[in-house]
Amino acid sequence: MPANDDAIDLLDDDHKQVERLFQQYKAAHDASRKRMLAAQICQELTVHTRIEEEVFYPAFRQATGDQQIVEHSTHEHREAMDLVHRIEQAQVDDKLMLELEDAVLHHVNDEREKMFPEARKAKGLDLAALAQQLQRRKSELMAHA
Ligand SMILES: [Fe+2]
Ligand SMILES: [Fe+2]
Repeated sequence: MPANDDAIDLLDDDHKQVERLFQQYKAAHDASRKRMLAAQICQELTVHTRIEEEVFYPAFRQATGDQQIVEHSTHEHREAMDLVHRIEQAQVDDKLMLELEDAVLHHVNDEREKMFPEARKAKGLDLAALAQQLQRRKSELMAHA
């Protein structure tokens, strides 16, 4: 994976990766492949929401003072993670996967349309330093997942 020196690009690469995995899930036919893709989607989303909540959102709140958008986003994370936990307990559940995809696409769109443009405009948000922190935390979480 190439090094990414901008926090927003790094986070959006995660989004694109999960979007691709959902496409692969929907194209999959056999249960074992679906199970593998579902597990990978759940793991990627778990790590992604954690690095956002631990690293990016606090820095964003600090720099912009926009508490409302952070609370809204965190609430959407909780909804998505509820679905992730249900999927991790299910065998293969296409309906839950579609629900999760809907929730994730909506949330990603919010971040792309609202939060990320606001972050780019914010003064005092060091996107290069944040990218390093995000990458470091992501590697730790992936190693223990
Ligand atoms: Fe998010
Ligand atoms: Fe995100």
